[in-house]
Amino acid sequence: MAKKRYLILSDIHSNEEALGAVLRCVARRRYDGVLCLGDLVGYGASPNPVVHKIKGMKELRIVRGNHDKAIADTAATQSFNNSAKTAAMWTRKHLTKANLNYVASLPKGPLQIQDGLMICHGSPLDEDYYLFSEFDAYQVFENAAFQVCFFGHTHYPCIFKQNRDGITFSYLRGELHEEVLEKDARYLINPGSVGQPRDRNPYSAFAEYYPETRRFIFRRVAYDIDKSAAKIMKAGLPENLGARLRVGT
Ligand SMILES: [Fe+2]
Repeated sequence: MAKKRYLILSDIHSNEEALGAVLRCVARRRYDGVLCLGDLVGYGASPNPVVHKIKGMKELRIVRGNHDKAIADTAATQSFNNSAKTAAMWTRKHLTKANLNYVASLPKGPLQIQDGLMICHGSPLDEDYYLFSEFDAYQVFENAAFQVCFFGHTHYPCIFKQNRDGITFSYLRGELHEEVLEKDARYLINPGSVGQPRDRNPYSAFAEYYPETRRFIFRRVAYDIDKSAAKIMKAGLPENLGARLRVGT
């Protein structure tokens, strides 16, 4: 059934403090659906609290990310750098059996949410694809049917818009960005990463979407980065995984 208000979360990456800050920020708002674009785990030191929180959410629609896939399928770590690989092995070892089964059984995207609205991890054409350029976006617009598609994976908050003049690209900057999506345009939107921002803004990123009015809101929220980084150190995960949280890379 079509919903009126969606909370959109992507790339949480076992960051309990970041997810907690986002959920506190939206605690007073009533969403009737949560869209999760994958990568619950990987990199961070709190996979169980994050998976527990997400799987308990009502009206959740979710697709797997490449780091979730790596929990079930070791071959999926082939393209990972050493830190990501180490974190994937650590996560597999530390997830409870129930949480491991949950992550391993997350569905592959894309997922049709309602008329014209879709979610995926990398791209609707390939869950592992990094959608960075206007040309990437062009190929998606040409080969997938949606009006609005939310994607993650790159951790770069941005909007690709296609209308009769062509495709335009814009980064989502600042702590709040609000816009009404055009009726006659199509959109590929990345809400940024909750748990490992990479756009040199260390604040946690997420979005909201109201399909009836086509209102899109992008937000950033501060969280206890020191705590997340300290947990990474304490867990014996690669040090750079904590350091990058402080600078947002
Ligand atoms: Fe990710």
